[in-house]
Amino acid sequence: MEPAYSYEATLAASQRVNWRIEDIIGGDKQLDFTKPFLPETLARVEALGFLTADEKLALNQIRGHNYLYLFGLVEEFILPFVLDHARPQLHGDDYRARAFLQFASEEAKHIHLFKRFRAEFQDGFGTDCPVIGPPEEIARAVLSHHPLAVALVILHIEWMTQRHYLESIRDNRDLDPQFKSLLRHHWMEEAQHAKLDTLMVEALAASCSEAEIERAVEEYAQIGGLLDGGLQQQVAFDMDSFSQATGRVLTADEQDAFTTVQGQAMRWTFLGSGMTHENFLKTLEGLRPASRTQVETMAAAFC
Ligand SMILES: [Fe+2]
Ligand SMILES: [Fe+2]
Repeated sequence: MEPAYSYEATLAASQRVNWRIEDIIGGDKQLDFTKPFLPETLARVEALGFLTADEKLALNQIRGHNYLYLFGLVEEFILPFVLDHARPQLHGDDYRARAFLQFASEEAKHIHLFKRFRAEFQDGFGTDCPVIGPPEEIARAVLSHHPLAVALVILHIEWMTQRHYLESIRDNRDLDPQFKSLLRHHWMEEAQHAKLDTLMVEALAASCSEAEIERAVEEYAQIGGLLDGGLQQQVAFDMDSFSQATGRVLTADEQDAFTTVQGQAMRWTFLGSGMTHENFLKTLEGLRPASRTQVETMAAAFC
C-alpha cells in the first residue's frame, strides 16, 4: 500500500508553520483570568451544578493548567522515542531524517513552552496547583513497552490534539485569547506529527508478526490504564487545588460528584477522544481489523 503521507511534504509544512516560544508567550501576551481556558466539552464544569459561576471558572482554569502540563508530560516520552526511531536510519532518506529531527525538536520546544506557561499560570492564578509526575518516571514506565505499543499511544495523542482543536477550540469565542493562541500554535505543529506517527506505526508494524501486533495493541491498552491511573490522581489534586483557590468546602456528596464528573472528563479528554478518532482507528484497522474492533469496544468506558 502507498504511504498516505510523505516525509518531504511533512517537513515542508512544518517549516512553513514553525514559530518561536518568545513570540507567543511572555511580555504583553498575558493570560486573562476573567475568561475560561478550556472548552466545556473537555472541562465539563457545567455538570457540577452546585458550583457558582466563579467557582466553575476557577475549575475550568485549573483544568486548562493541567491540560497543558499533561501535554508536556507525555511529550517527555515522545521526544526520546522519536529520536530513537530516527537514529538507526540517519544515513538513509534525508527527508525522513530531517522530518523526524524536526518533530523531536518541536516536542522539545513544546515541553519548554508548557513549562513557561505553568510558571505564568502559577503567578497569575495565585494558588499552587499540584500535578502528577515526575514526567521522567512516567516516561520510563511507558517506554518499557513494545515500540509499536508506544507508537500507537503517540499516534492516539497526536490525533486527539487535532480533534480537540478543530472540534471545540478553533471556533470558540469565549476562551481566553492567549490560552487559545497557545493551543493554536501547538496544534499547527502537531498536525505534522500525526502524519509522521502514522508512518512510524506503519514502519514498526511492517516488521511485526500478527501475534506481535496483537500483543502491542494489548500493551497500548496497558499504557492507557497506566495513564488513566495518573489522570484519576490528577482529579484528586484538582479538587484540592479548587478548594484552596476558591475557599469552597465541598460536602461528601459534592466531592463524589466532582470525582465522578471530572474523572470522566479527564478520560474523555486524554483517552476516549483519541481512541475514537477515525484516523487512529483506520491505522489500527490497517494493522489488524480485530484490533480496531477491540479498541472501539474499550473506548466506551472513556467517552
Ligand atoms: Fe507537542
Ligand atoms: Fe506532537
